[in-house]
Amino acid sequence: MRIAMIGSGYVGLVSGACFADFGHTVVCVDKDPSKIERLNNNIMPIYEPGLDTLVASNVKAGRLSFTTDLAAGIEGAEAVFIAVGTPSRRGDGHADLSYVYAAAREIAQSIKSYVVVVNKSTVPVGTGDEVERIIREERPDADFAVASNPEFLREGAAIGDFKRPDRIVVGTEDDRAREVMTELYRPLFINQSPLLFMGRRSAEVTKYAANAFLATKITFINEMADLCEAVGSNVQDVARGIGMDGRIGSKFLHAGPGYGGSCFPKDTMALIKTAQDYNSPVRIVETVAAVNEERKRRMAQKVIRLAGGDVAGKTVAIIGLTFKPNTDDMRDAPSIAIIDELQKAGATIRAHDPEGTEQAQLVLKDVAYFDTPYEALEGADVAAIVTEWEAFRALDLARIKSLMKTPAIADLRNIYRPSEMAKHGFAYLAVGR
Ligand SMILES: NC(=O)c1ccc[n+]([C@@H]2O[C@H](COP(=O)([O-])OP(=O)(O)OC[C@H]3O[C@@H](n4cnc5c(N)ncnc54)[C@H](O)[C@@H]3O)[C@@H](O)[C@H]2O)c1
Repeated sequence: MRIAMIGSGYVGLVSGACFADFGHTVVCVDKDPSKIERLNNNIMPIYEPGLDTLVASNVKAGRLSFTTDLAAGIEGAEAVFIAVGTPSRRGDGHADLSYVYAAAREIAQSIKSYVVVVNKSTVPVGTGDEVERIIREERPDADFAVASNPEFLREGAAIGDFKRPDRIVVGTEDDRAREVMTELYRPLFINQSPLLFMGRRSAEVTKYAANAFLATKITFINEMADLCEAVGSNVQDVARGIGMDGRIGSKFLHAGPGYGGSCFPKDTMALIKTAQDYNSPVRIVETVAAVNEERKRRMAQKVIRLAGGDVAGKTVAIIGLTFKPNTDDMRDAPSIAIIDELQKAGATIRAHDPEGTEQAQLVLKDVAYFDTPYEALEGADVAAIVTEWEAFRALDLARIKSLMKTPAIADLRNIYRPSEMAKHGFAYLAVGR
């Protein structure tokens, strides 16, 4: 089949490359010329494991191409995916739908024969209705359907998630659209990933409900971690103890510095706003968002406590900046709030991240970046491990001890054992242990 992907970011590029890998012919469109130029030179605009080889092989096979020209890109496509950003709207926290609506208007101009316009961006309930209205307004003669197909992939494991999803959710009431979507996802269906059809508005709510639930699960274990610290329990034991209950499940029960990233913070906020608009508030999610926001700042206090209650004039090494490992994405990363708080308290920051430095430089000020964790740790009064990159799991502790001014580590991801740290002579604080 022929597919166009409007927006070639974390979701559009990965989805487009994976669809091409299934054998479809995919054109990825982006209005950012530098992104398209890089892609045409096989330089990935983002860091995502395995993406470069997947893109290269499908470009070589003639199934994947890139353009800034939307009209040319959607020529002959049976499905046009909208995968543009839906960030928080400045000021009120609603999802900013201007990119989605702009894409819909542009798509409308180029519709020639029946096409399914598929919303893959995360959008509040009713957006599909509005996209349909916009296209109809622009092109009363066009033959099209609008479907919702929210994406559940995780950055850092995006290709695996796209190719082996727990389920595929499609929201449409249109029979022809259902056929097109079934055909598009047939390769996955054969792999036994359930293809779940539902109404468009239900699909839209499903995406937010999923993210809000996951954010709640993380926040729940984070609060349990605080309680464990207060009463002398170990949150990792508690997480194992409850996670083996099939009704609860062991995933997303890792206590840490609070969730961040390009999705949970903005999506929980957008859901809260939508729910308030409909006079049906989601109070649990409201609390989750508030608790999580406060938590990131509290993590900075933990670091300050470890430094003896004061970091003014001291040097703090931050190990890991991205919101999670295996991505370069810095959007709403907990490191941002933690560093801000430490800087306000007078600390000088030295940092290392395996892939996130370029993005970090765009959002953080007055931070010195280093190529290795060891360089970042040199001369530091205290260190904080903020992201659990694999490369940080077996650091040379003896070497670190000799490099730091005082051996003190706040392990905000619980990747080291307290006994091991004590053996090496570190002052050590973790989360919930
Ligand atoms: N990143 C994730 O892990 C993830 C997971 C699931 C869902 N989502 C959702 O998917 C959507 C996209 O997220 P992302 O992380 O890929 O965003 P992104 O910012 O990485 O990519 C969006 C791209 O769309 C392009 N764009 C915007 N308007 C355009 C237009 N009119 N025509 C062509 N290109 C246009 C931008 O230049 C940008 O490259 C969001 O709604 C997000 O919530 C993201």
